[in-house]
Amino acid sequence: MREIPWEQPFADRFQSREAELKQLFYALYPNDEQAFSYFADMLYRTYQQRSPALRRLDAQREEKPSWYKGRDLVGMQLYVKAFAGTLRGVREKLDYLQEAGVNYLHLMPLLESPEGRSDGGYAVSDFRKVQPELGTMEDLAALAEDCHGRGMAVCLDFVMNHTSEDHEWARRAKAGDRACRERYFFYDDWEIPIRFERTVPQVFPTTAPGNFTWNQEAGKVVMTTFYPYQWDLNYCNPTVFNDMTENMLYLCNQGVDVIRLDAVPYIWKELGTNCRNLPQVHSLVRLMRMACEIVCPGTLLLGEVVMEPSKVVPYFGTMDKPECHLLYNVTTMASTWHTVATKDVRLLRHQLGQVFALPKEYGFLNYLRCHDDIGWGLDYGFLRWFGTEEVPHKKFLNDYLTGMWLGSPARGELYNNDPRLGDARLCGTTASLCGVELARERENTELLDWALRLDEMLHAYIFTLSGLPVLYSGDEIARQNDYTYHNDPLKAEDSRWIHRGDMDWEAAEKRRDPETPEGRIFTALRRLEQLRAEHRVFDGAADVWIVDTRDDSVLGIGRYYRGEKLVALFNFSQEEKTVSACELGEFRDLLTGEKADKCRVRLPSGGFRWLLCDFARECQG
Ligand code: GLC
Repeated sequence: MREIPWEQPFADRFQSREAELKQLFYALYPNDEQAFSYFADMLYRTYQQRSPALRRLDAQREEKPSWYKGRDLVGMQLYVKAFAGTLRGVREKLDYLQEAGVNYLHLMPLLESPEGRSDGGYAVSDFRKVQPELGTMEDLAALAEDCHGRGMAVCLDFVMNHTSEDHEWARRAKAGDRACRERYFFYDDWEIPIRFERTVPQVFPTTAPGNFTWNQEAGKVVMTTFYPYQWDLNYCNPTVFNDMTENMLYLCNQGVDVIRLDAVPYIWKELGTNCRNLPQVHSLVRLMRMACEIVCPGTLLLGEVVMEPSKVVPYFGTMDKPECHLLYNVTTMASTWHTVATKDVRLLRHQLGQVFALPKEYGFLNYLRCHDDIGWGLDYGFLRWFGTEEVPHKKFLNDYLTGMWLGSPARGELYNNDPRLGDARLCGTTASLCGVELARERENTELLDWALRLDEMLHAYIFTLSGLPVLYSGDEIARQNDYTYHNDPLKAEDSRWIHRGDMDWEAAEKRRDPETPEGRIFTALRRLEQLRAEHRVFDGAADVWIVDTRDDSVLGIGRYYRGEKLVALFNFSQEEKTVSACELGEFRDLLTGEKADKCRVRLPSGGFRWLLCDFARECQG
């Protein structure tokens, strides 16, 4: 019995999950009752630290657990420094974000991280401290409070696979502290690391080859799956799990609504395996999900699982034992850029068909670009049916999207080019990959018109999918690549900085002038977002299917919900197309309001149509 009984509702929430918590915890940490009791006390401590305002928000969200599935939700991810300099700066720009329709704000890593060895903030040296140049923890809490006041949710990365080599645990480990060494993977020599290397692939084969680093100070080899300064945490040690979960809950208590579990598939390591997606990872995520449900039930987990579909979906868990609330629709994203390059929608149709067949409860985060590269994790088994082989195809995609392919207007750069495997990934902003940059440079108005139409179409397509659409900051004003990183020795090696440039506020001023590229895209996206919010057919509960357009360069998506049917058509080809949408009902164009002839739908090159049939209205008419 506890000396002081737990308060409600904590006690109920904990007790109803206690059996499963124990079962999972003891499977990972056999019979470690002391560690479990620390875990339970830690949950209560963090619960007590939660502010009354956040507890009220929890209660509201518990009333409406699908609060994050609304069709009015639009996300944006941004780097605080690039967007507005500081956290206070972001607060001052909330009007702009609202004008852009954003009500889910993903702030890229902002916790303390040593300059030059930070991987864009993904090497955290203190989970309780904001990078001083961006502000303080109080500033973060104040920003979250402002956001909540405006009905916006805040997402933050939780970099849990590793810490910076400057984190206190790492520094103490270097100095010989045994307990801290046990928080990482240390080896006296290369024997075991070499055995690991036989089965573990490399994340950054060019910029950070290998999975281990020799540390001179400790006189030992340490596991570093990502960069050498990012030391992998050892989750076989319950202290690591307990302390990291406490760090996560601490961030939730600052008002963070969505925790992005960074690189989550990597968190459990075992010799002889590829150290990805091991069953223990799922137990850890499930434990963290329950920790949130107990302490801060208004909080969501977003899993960063950049893997093939069969590895992604298990991170949703099961209906009665859920893990993540949201997952990235990563294969769809990569298949989309494949379609831009090939102008052949067959792969995308196949990919989307699989996504549409999944339970509607699954929450996908849909996106065109994010802060990372585009990795070509496509369904090559399917592509092989058409004679497309992996290595030459990756080369084609990279050639096309870097503008090396004859006639391609795209501008991108390669990322982690690994000539041994014929594998390279790709970076660039949406607008530059669509050809906006080249067209503006050449002052080619026809090409510019086409490139902007493609950019708009890709966004319309993202808004057509069920789930949470997340824009990448700058995409709302067709921001182009930023090449200045080439001159920064701390960034030059990492081409992801090409699409992480500073927000151009002068360009943003043009957003209300539809004659400018900025204004055209800003206005178009806003309109699409509004239509999406207005029409129930975009609801996550809608039925969604592939519409046969009888044209391999035109993608058709159908949606139906409570008397509303949408036929969405996307022309990826470079020619104007006329297709027939064989769907029952009378349609009108959602954007123009005009009646549409569904048997002869004209689509400009790179253009799209949203056709709506309102059965209820039709019956009245
Ligand atoms: C995630 C991030 C990426 C980072 C890596 C290591 O994949 O998205 O930017 O480099 O984790 O933390």
